[in-house]
Amino acid sequence: MKILFVASECAPFVKTGGLADVVGAVPKALEPLGAEVQTILPAYPALAPQVADGDVVHEFADLFGGPARLVAARAEGLNLLLLDAPHLYDRAGSIYLNDSDQDWEDNHLRFGALCVAATMVALDGVAGWKPQLVHAHDWQAGLVPLLIKMADRSDAPRTILTIHNIAFQGLFPWTTKNLFNIPDHLFTHEGAEYYGQLGFLKSGLAFADKITTVSPTYARELLTPSFGMGLDGLLQARQHDLSGILNGIDLDIWNPQTDPVLPANYSARNRVNKRKCRDAVASHFGLSVEPDTPLFCVISRLTEQKGLDLLLQVLPNLVERGGRLAVLGSGSPELEQGFQSAAETFAGKVGVVIGYDEALSHLMQGGSDAILVPSRFEPCGLTQLYGLRYGTLPVVAQTGGLADTVVDATKENLKAKTATGVQFSPIDAHHLGRAIERTCDLFAKPKVWKAMMGTAMRTPVGWADSAPKYLDLYREVAAV
Ligand code: ADP
Ligand code: GLC
Repeated sequence: MKILFVASECAPFVKTGGLADVVGAVPKALEPLGAEVQTILPAYPALAPQVADGDVVHEFADLFGGPARLVAARAEGLNLLLLDAPHLYDRAGSIYLNDSDQDWEDNHLRFGALCVAATMVALDGVAGWKPQLVHAHDWQAGLVPLLIKMADRSDAPRTILTIHNIAFQGLFPWTTKNLFNIPDHLFTHEGAEYYGQLGFLKSGLAFADKITTVSPTYARELLTPSFGMGLDGLLQARQHDLSGILNGIDLDIWNPQTDPVLPANYSARNRVNKRKCRDAVASHFGLSVEPDTPLFCVISRLTEQKGLDLLLQVLPNLVERGGRLAVLGSGSPELEQGFQSAAETFAGKVGVVIGYDEALSHLMQGGSDAILVPSRFEPCGLTQLYGLRYGTLPVVAQTGGLADTVVDATKENLKAKTATGVQFSPIDAHHLGRAIERTCDLFAKPKVWKAMMGTAMRTPVGWADSAPKYLDLYREVAAV
């Protein structure tokens, strides 16, 4: 089965969040099952080496203001189709934002071009390869199902759109539709139009054959006004085509037994070396850790979604209970400042690194006792899955994929030895504070904590369950 992935990021080449991890991992999990995936993505500067090593398989004389080409390359176990269009992608800094932290002014062209190129591959193929199905990810790929529909070809592949985060919808002025020749009869309330604007994500949701999202709970939440962010009505209308397939993680990259970043490796069976990792985190963040109180960590984008303002509110209690906190993240200036000033107030007890640091994130998963994820909404979340794998117990809000992946330490679950972390609900500072207290209480009982760590580390968090679900869906949609 041949599948074309369309995405704006892909680990390990270019990543701003979990989307990249998933887009980088799923094709590798599908390959042994007999699926052949090609992933089309923009050739940002980070992909220059792969472009240099690849083969040009298609040339566009003009793609929204300049020449472009598609370069096929095999790298890190992935088949890449890199859209090399320097006028759109050859820019320093963030792939989405300019120097003033605003969206690039031409993002509609940058990701529209990706969709146009993907549609060309979908309809005509490149280098003798033509997909049977297109799997588009998030708003940046959202125009593909619409453009394929517009082509009105009987041999067109069918399409799936995955919502990784409905908060980002790719809305642009209505005149943008003319750049893509979107006809009026498809630019409607049921189609590509969102209150007078062109919606990239909405176009995908309206015209894809099937829609998925990244956890079963989020699939249900999306049908409600509080989570659907204006698209719940459309999703309700399409609920029979919507399903949730839980994310997994790449077990080779996230493995405490082999992780090269850790000062000492450990496994579910032999965990003594986790202490050395803990010391390394403590020294990196300038923290004085105690043996009988937990070291919490946060590894996150600092945005409203992640609920970290709630954590700032209860930080004094966390410290009072003897807890320590290491934070790695970047995002909103208020939250960055909030955590930086907390680190000054609670010197030696709270440590903060503002920035994005993949290696440090591995060290923190290795050396922390618990990872805090108090998100207001969370389509799936990956850091709690890494936490499970590294025996860093997740303390999470009961929402989306967090609810689906962490087993709360209730009396019953502790007794049944199924508990892997702590969940809280409703999602507010008070209940987060209580969850932190519960975590401290559990940590103070080494036997209980160790049992939970064992269960967490043995929880299957790879793609073994979910990759076959994608393949089943592909087969159903493509009817092969
Ligand atoms: P989201 O995609 O909403 O940001 P996820 O939990 O799905 O949330 O994925 C976040 C990914 O980004 C994880 O791989 C996490 O380790 C990584 N990450 C987030 N912030 C940082 C950071 N500051 N430094 C390194 N990695 C980070
Ligand atoms: C999004 C979501 C996150 C999810 C990730 C990968 O960024 O915010 O919850 O894990 O996509 O699907």
